[in-house]
Amino acid sequence: MDEMRVQKIKQLKAEKDVVILAHYYVDGEVQQLADYVGDSYYLSKVATKVKEKSILFCGVSFMGESAKILNPEKRVVMADEYADCPMAHMVTAERIAEIRAAYEDVAVVCYVNSTAEIKALSDVCVTSSNAIRVVQKLKERHIFFIPDNNLGRYVAEKVPGKQFIFHDGFCHVHKGIEADAVREAKKLQPDALVLTHPECTMDVVELSDFVGSTSEIIDYATQSEQDKFIICTEMGVFFELMQKNPDKRFYSVGHRQFCPNMKRVTLDKVEAALEKMEPELTLDSGIMEQALRPLQKMLELAE
Ligand code: 13P
Ligand code: SF4
Repeated sequence: MDEMRVQKIKQLKAEKDVVILAHYYVDGEVQQLADYVGDSYYLSKVATKVKEKSILFCGVSFMGESAKILNPEKRVVMADEYADCPMAHMVTAERIAEIRAAYEDVAVVCYVNSTAEIKALSDVCVTSSNAIRVVQKLKERHIFFIPDNNLGRYVAEKVPGKQFIFHDGFCHVHKGIEADAVREAKKLQPDALVLTHPECTMDVVELSDFVGSTSEIIDYATQSEQDKFIICTEMGVFFELMQKNPDKRFYSVGHRQFCPNMKRVTLDKVEAALEKMEPELTLDSGIMEQALRPLQKMLELAE
């Protein structure tokens, strides 16, 4: 990486009192510059603790929104204002109202990959690393799990005492990872363990040795005695996997493991955002107040 540029970014960060948070799916060179890199759960926990005046978020909108809701007094700047997760828009307020009217004893469980408006209408948020833990602790009998169908079904299998109502949201990146491609990769590397994100379809989950969030996949590979892994999630995780495990081998399952929204975040945009402290992420104050409750409940129950 260009050392002059790194120095300039560090100087801007210090001058403007900014902390950089980045998700594992952004490019490695951006991850390298960030103060904190992690999965959605880790980044929302970090957002409650940082001391700097402003947060520069390297990820998609819903992640920046969570940081803003948890820190309404801080300025949150997005490295790219158009980096947005399509799944976050796959459920409507009307659908939530319909389910609330149809079931008395129901909790609306909102995967953090949702807009602030949808979080505001939900009972609790979850991420892929805490969803099972959080849902197990809910007292309601029915769980309306929004928006991701695959994660909902995965959690339902692990929490058998509840009645789930599923929604039809999905991640196009993880849905694009096909079971046949995993079988093919396994044929080529029969000794490799298959590590999978729960946004993948059930047939891929069934072929897997381990299922977990991005951080959990990285931790599992790092702690494992094995040295070969087939990775079923977005390709950004390969950077940290290889940093932490230079002697282990990681295999992809084809060309589709690419989130175009996460890849909008580049070093050029990080530098420009730090110079101007724009684009600032803003949210309606009423929505922020309402959305704080389910996010805080997640942080409490996930402990
Ligand atoms: P993690 O919570 O595992 O970081 O996942 C976020 C995400 O967007 C997965 O596609
Ligand atoms: Fe959204 Fe999928 Fe990209 Fe994650 S990988 S941000 S769920 S589109």
